[in-house]
Amino acid sequence: MSQDFRISVNGETKAVRVDPDTPLLYVLKNELELKGPRFGCGLAQCGSCSVLVDGVEIRSCVTPIGDIGARKITTLEGLAGLYAEQKKLPTKPALHPLQQAFIDEQSMHCGYCYNGMTVKGAELLSQNTKPSDAQIRAHMDGHLCRCGTYPRVMKAIKLAANRMSGGKL
Ligand code: FES
Ligand code: FES
Repeated sequence: MSQDFRISVNGETKAVRVDPDTPLLYVLKNELELKGPRFGCGLAQCGSCSVLVDGVEIRSCVTPIGDIGARKITTLEGLAGLYAEQKKLPTKPALHPLQQAFIDEQSMHCGYCYNGMTVKGAELLSQNTKPSDAQIRAHMDGHLCRCGTYPRVMKAIKLAANRMSGGKL
């Protein structure tokens, strides 16, 4: 049975009326019309639907909206704002440093995995701005790219880490 929910998404409170078992992904895409999170496997296997909840990556395809409560959701669209908040920047950059690095390294091919790679990579960089190759591999392990862009994803994360630890962006 549908219920009213008020959820925090990218710094704004949104009201939706859905069944509590509705996957968060469906709410974000169908009710709030966000384009970042994507439906891939629907089984928590690929990472294309990832979002941050209180800064921690989750698979929104298998997370019922009824489990979210007052926690803060950040989607791809909100990563630059979250970054500005975390770094206490006076203004919000147009893109999160990792988004810019993906562009600069031309990392993506079809782009279907881009949402999950960016969300998961941003989670890593919020915890560790100098990750080793092994740490990057371990952190990104559950995110699948059918186009095999993994080497370029690795390069982009390292570029973003260098820029972030150097105080740029
Ligand atoms: S769509 Fe959620 S993990 Fe694949
Ligand atoms: S770029 Fe195509 S799935 Fe990753």
